[in-house]
Amino acid sequence: MQIPAYPTETIIAYTTVPLKLGFGAADEVGYEAKRLGAKKVLIFTDKNLRATGHPGRLKKIIEKEGIGIDIYDDIHVEPTDKSFDKAANDLRGNEFDLYVAIGGGSTIDTTKAVNLLITYPAPILEYVNKPIGNARPVPGPLKPTLVLPTTSGSGSEATPASVLDILDLKVKTGISHPHLRPTMALIDPLLTVSTSPEITASTGMDVLTHALESYTSMPYDKRKRPDHPSQRAAYIGSNIISDIFCIKAIEIVGKYLRRAVADPYDLEARWHMMLGSTLAGIGFGNSGVHIPHSMAYPIGGMVRDYRPAGYNVEEDMVPHGQAVTITAPAAFKFTAPVWPEKHAHAAELLGLNPGGMSVTEAAMALSDEIIQLMKDIEFPNGLSELGSTEADIPQIVDGTLKQQRLLVGCPRRVGEKELTQIAKESMKYW
Ligand SMILES: [Fe+2]
Repeated sequence: MQIPAYPTETIIAYTTVPLKLGFGAADEVGYEAKRLGAKKVLIFTDKNLRATGHPGRLKKIIEKEGIGIDIYDDIHVEPTDKSFDKAANDLRGNEFDLYVAIGGGSTIDTTKAVNLLITYPAPILEYVNKPIGNARPVPGPLKPTLVLPTTSGSGSEATPASVLDILDLKVKTGISHPHLRPTMALIDPLLTVSTSPEITASTGMDVLTHALESYTSMPYDKRKRPDHPSQRAAYIGSNIISDIFCIKAIEIVGKYLRRAVADPYDLEARWHMMLGSTLAGIGFGNSGVHIPHSMAYPIGGMVRDYRPAGYNVEEDMVPHGQAVTITAPAAFKFTAPVWPEKHAHAAELLGLNPGGMSVTEAAMALSDEIIQLMKDIEFPNGLSELGSTEADIPQIVDGTLKQQRLLVGCPRRVGEKELTQIAKESMKYW
């Protein structure tokens, strides 16, 4: 049969990570390491998490299987090109045949990048997305990786991406390729109970933005068909499969994030937020994100005079979850008119009772639902609370325009003028 040559994409290409989700999933790390044939394992973690005892416990479980093991805990929160290089240089020459990442997005992303830099050595910018780097495809499979997320947020356990700051350019960007996706995720809600309310709030809002951006992203069949299957982008745009995951993730955040922030030991809320994080990761890891994540890159990259409460850090940083959420109410007010049905549905999933509202009115109310959630979990009130002023807007807009890989996912044409308006509206919400 001759397939007609459509100009737009007709294929949903879907890959995701094998996973085990539930209380006690972390205890199966030894079994999985042995199943993968590991002889020498390296655990990646950060110092704060190491102090909780979780990485030490995993080490014992893996040792019981007769497998050699080391721990590396020099992970930089919100990692950078320099921190990736340092970790790769520290570890080069060791013969590890399995990596285990236990931590938040920073730890999982560092593990992915170090695995890449050690397996296929090259200057990191070779692999970084265009236009900042050369976007060289990952040459082949990496060493197997088991990941154990300790926050309900990044979804990095399910995605083919690693995010980093390029320090000299003051910009956040990423490396994305299917070979970066972990071999398996062990998702255990018990690992999240030591997370502070502020980190729970920030990472939980990251889940929400993943799901909302992904659900409303430019559909796959409105995008150009790749000339060859190898050129299909990692993020293909919204589609029926990723929508299923995103819808459930939005509903879960609306129901459980307030509870998880209020009580770290609310295990029902923790279990659901872990599920929501993973579902959103499976969704956006395929369809992609758009304006809030694009704007978060320069917002995070140009931080000054801001130390977030609840994070034990010794330098200025904007947590990724705060950077992505802070423009979300303004961004979804901008995109709602072009796809009111999906925005209205998202608002309802977050708890809106549309009553006698029109679809467009309900779509515009999505922004209010996000703001109400931010208030309820004591989130920073706009960019001004993260240390930015109106004078920073041109630089934020300029940095956002460099994220074309993500901005192509926006369902509405967006340029300098529109981003400037969104940044202005994001300064203060209430
Ligand atoms: Fe994110």
